[in-house]
Amino acid sequence: MELQISSRVCQNVLITMVLLICFSAIFFTYYKPTVNWLKWPTFSRPDSCRDICINALKMSNQTEMVNITSITNLLTQAEPVTQTDPDTILLIWMWPFGQKFDLGSCGSLYSIHGCRLTDNRSQFNNSHGVLFHHRDIHGDLSNMPKLPRPLFQKWIWMNMESPSHSAQRSALNNLFNLTASYRLDSDILVPYGRISEETGGKTTYTVPHKNKLVCWIVSNWNSNHKRSQYYRQFKQHISIETYGRGFSKPISNEDYLDVVSSCKFYLSFENSIHKDYITEKLYNPLKLGTVPVALGPPRKNYEELIPGSAFIHVDDFSSPKELAEHLKVLDQNESLYRQYFTWREHFVASSTHFGLDHACRACDHIRRYKNYRAVNDLNGWYWG
Ligand SMILES: *[C@@H]1O[C@H](CO)[C@@H](O)[C@H](O)[C@H]1NC(C)=O
Ligand SMILES: *[C@@H]1O[C@H](CO)[C@@H](O)[C@H](O)[C@H]1NC(C)=O
Ligand SMILES: *[C@@H]1O[C@H](CO)[C@@H](O)[C@H](O)[C@H]1NC(C)=O
Ligand SMILES: *[C@@H]1O[C@H](CO)[C@@H](O)[C@H](O)[C@H]1NC(C)=O
Ligand SMILES: *[C@@H]1O[C@H](CO)[C@@H](O)[C@H](O)[C@H]1NC(C)=O
Ligand SMILES: *[C@@H]1O[C@H](CO)[C@@H](O)[C@H](O)[C@H]1NC(C)=O
Repeated sequence: MELQISSRVCQNVLITMVLLICFSAIFFTYYKPTVNWLKWPTFSRPDSCRDICINALKMSNQTEMVNITSITNLLTQAEPVTQTDPDTILLIWMWPFGQKFDLGSCGSLYSIHGCRLTDNRSQFNNSHGVLFHHRDIHGDLSNMPKLPRPLFQKWIWMNMESPSHSAQRSALNNLFNLTASYRLDSDILVPYGRISEETGGKTTYTVPHKNKLVCWIVSNWNSNHKRSQYYRQFKQHISIETYGRGFSKPISNEDYLDVVSSCKFYLSFENSIHKDYITEKLYNPLKLGTVPVALGPPRKNYEELIPGSAFIHVDDFSSPKELAEHLKVLDQNESLYRQYFTWREHFVASSTHFGLDHACRACDHIRRYKNYRAVNDLNGWYWG
């Protein structure tokens, strides 16, 4: 009896398997997948701009600074946009961190034309793209759109926090079409700042007046951070001026500029270490004429975005003590110190306008790339 049953089960399983194999064979013969379901992300360009950027940045010669716009254009086959195409509409579903920005400045700030930004949710049905800020999405998705999504509409996931400081949510898989973040392999790349070529050609740069050696401003002190551990050793070898809530010495925005520019070196120590996570902590001193001392991803990663001669990396030295000695040498030798500013003869640093930069570039991206796109495994990509 038992034997009979199990042989019947076997027979059924066999038939099912044969049917499945036949079906699969037919399916894959005639079905031409347009999307690679197995792998995420499905880039239409090679593995980010990594290799090309590195080559462009063999920085013994600083005239070859990377131009992210041209690299993106180069690596992605943009569809031609004609003047007669109707405006692309991008709906900002929630203001990032509740902070509003001017919806009319894509043209003047980024030379992005043909884009219309709106925060009017009644425009949902007409919007080609909808922008969502990760931190502002409720855990139960209760503040996400309830209406059916128009077939042409693309949803954009925006996030500038590192994986360590962003809540992971499985509900966000299979929801978005594009990513906008600091990561080099985002669909819409928005680094925290940009180094761009000086438009007027070679200039002479005047280093601002300095009356402090090393400075550090910290609002969020956590003794477990790698940066805190480094600082504790470092300060035994060199004197460091500390500010910010982390040191019970908060400073205003105006003071921030004065303080940073009056220091020879600024500790650009990231709060968490992740590939491409290079923040305003580095771009602000670059902008303000102060040499950043970077602690974050490896130097090679920084050099994909920033001239190698513009900053010092803690990994350049075998110990905090050695770094301190180097800074003291630079403090005594003006011409050596000034070498950290030669890049300024050809380039300027700027910071990203949080939110607006994402919105304008997302709108431009949707306008130019009409292909189907789905971000299936957002969690695996960002937190994996
Ligand atoms: C830098 O590049 C320019 C143009 O490609 C070249 O003329 C110049 O000799 C290079 N300088 C150095 C130091 O390699
Ligand atoms: C970057 O490249 C784009 C496209 O090639 C060009 O339009 C733009 O002017 C360049 N930007 C800079 C700062 O060189
Ligand atoms: C939002 O859009 C709707 C539909 O186009 C329009 O009737 C309404 O006046 C708009 N609201 C604002 C505040 O612009
Ligand atoms: C948007 O489209 C949906 C159907 O897809 C419809 O139910 C809804 O009324 C439309 N909303 C507006 C404001 O037109
Ligand atoms: C500064 O450093 C340079 C290069 O090492 C050296 O040639 C120069 O003599 C130094 N100047 C002083 C004042 O020590
Ligand atoms: C956007 O992504 C969603 C979810 O994966 C998908 O259903 C939709 O077809 C995609 N739309 C476009 C225009 O790519």
